[in-house]
Amino acid sequence: MNDNNVSENTDNFKAEFKYYKQKASTPCFDDVLNFENESSMVQVSKLCVNHLDAVENIKSSREWDVFHVNSVPGLYFIKNAFSEKDQLFWVRKCTQNFTRSPYVTNLDQFQEKSSVDDIWEKSSLSFCTSTHFHLNDLKQSPLWSLRWSTLGYHHDWNTKQYQKSHKTEFPHDLANVCTYIANVLGFHHFCPEASIVNFYHVGSTLSPHQDVSEADLSLPLVSISFGLDSIFLIGDDTKYQKPEAILIRSGDVIVMSGKSRTAYHALPRVMPSSRLTLGDEKDFLSFYLQHSRINLNVRQVESANLSLP
Ligand code: OGA
Ligand code: MN
Repeated sequence: MNDNNVSENTDNFKAEFKYYKQKASTPCFDDVLNFENESSMVQVSKLCVNHLDAVENIKSSREWDVFHVNSVPGLYFIKNAFSEKDQLFWVRKCTQNFTRSPYVTNLDQFQEKSSVDDIWEKSSLSFCTSTHFHLNDLKQSPLWSLRWSTLGYHHDWNTKQYQKSHKTEFPHDLANVCTYIANVLGFHHFCPEASIVNFYHVGSTLSPHQDVSEADLSLPLVSISFGLDSIFLIGDDTKYQKPEAILIRSGDVIVMSGKSRTAYHALPRVMPSSRLTLGDEKDFLSFYLQHSRINLNVRQVESANLSLP
C-alpha cells in the first residue's frame, strides 16, 4: 500500500490488513517481502548460525537459509528447513494425529470426541472410490470445518489464559523440532508447552492480535507453516506502525523473539499456490493440501521462575 496513506494516530495495521484481505481485486504484492526474491533482500540480513546436530523430521541447520527482518527487530525467517518428506510427515501428523484425543479441536463442542477422532478417515474414505478429487466434495466433508486444534496447554479462546487443569501432553517430536529451531537461533532455554494448530483455506484470515498470555515473553514463539501461500503482517506493539508484509510458503518457519515477540500480527490472505505439489497427486493428503494451509504456532507457557495457578 502507498506510504503516503500512513499517518501517526490511525490504525495503520487495520488499513494494511484490509488492503491485503480485499476480494474485489487482487492487491499489489510489490511491497511484500519475498525471501526467494533478491530485490527483497535489502530489508533483511542473511545470518550465519551455530550449527547443531540434526534431529528427526527437520533438515540439519546446515541446509537452512536463516534471515533476520531488520524492520521488525527479533523476527527471524527460515527457508529450506523441511524436506518434502518432512513436510508430509507434519501435515499427516496435524490432520490425523493432532485432531485426536487428548488434543482439543474446534469441532469437539459440536460432536462426540470419538467422531472427531476419525475425521480424517471419514473424510478420506468418502473419496477413495473416485479417481479424481473434487473441491466441492472436500467442502462437504467434516474435515473442511476443522479450524484449530490445541496441544499441551490448551489455549482458551475466550479468556486467553492457560490453566494447569487444562493441559495434556505436548507431542515429543514437535517439541524436539521446535527446541532445535530455537537452539540454532541461540535460545537455549525454550521449552515448548503449547501449540495452536491453525487450519486455513483460500479466503481464510486471522485478525490482528498479540500473543502475550505466556509468562515469559523473552522466550521465542516458533511458527511453522505448510500448504498454501499466505501473506503475514507484523508491526510493533502499537497499531499505528505500518506492518511489514511477508510471503509465507510451505515449509517456512518464523520465529518471533525480542521486540517482535509482542508485536501485532495477522494473516490477511491465504491464496492458491501455483507450484504446490507435495506427495502423490493421486493421494487425498496432497489434494487436501492444495486447498489448505496449516500453521503450527508453538509457545512456552510457564516461566522458569513463575508457576501457573
Ligand atoms: C497464531 C498466529 C499465524 C499463522 O496462531 O497466533 O499468529 O501464520 N498464526 O497462521
Ligand atoms: Mn499469533
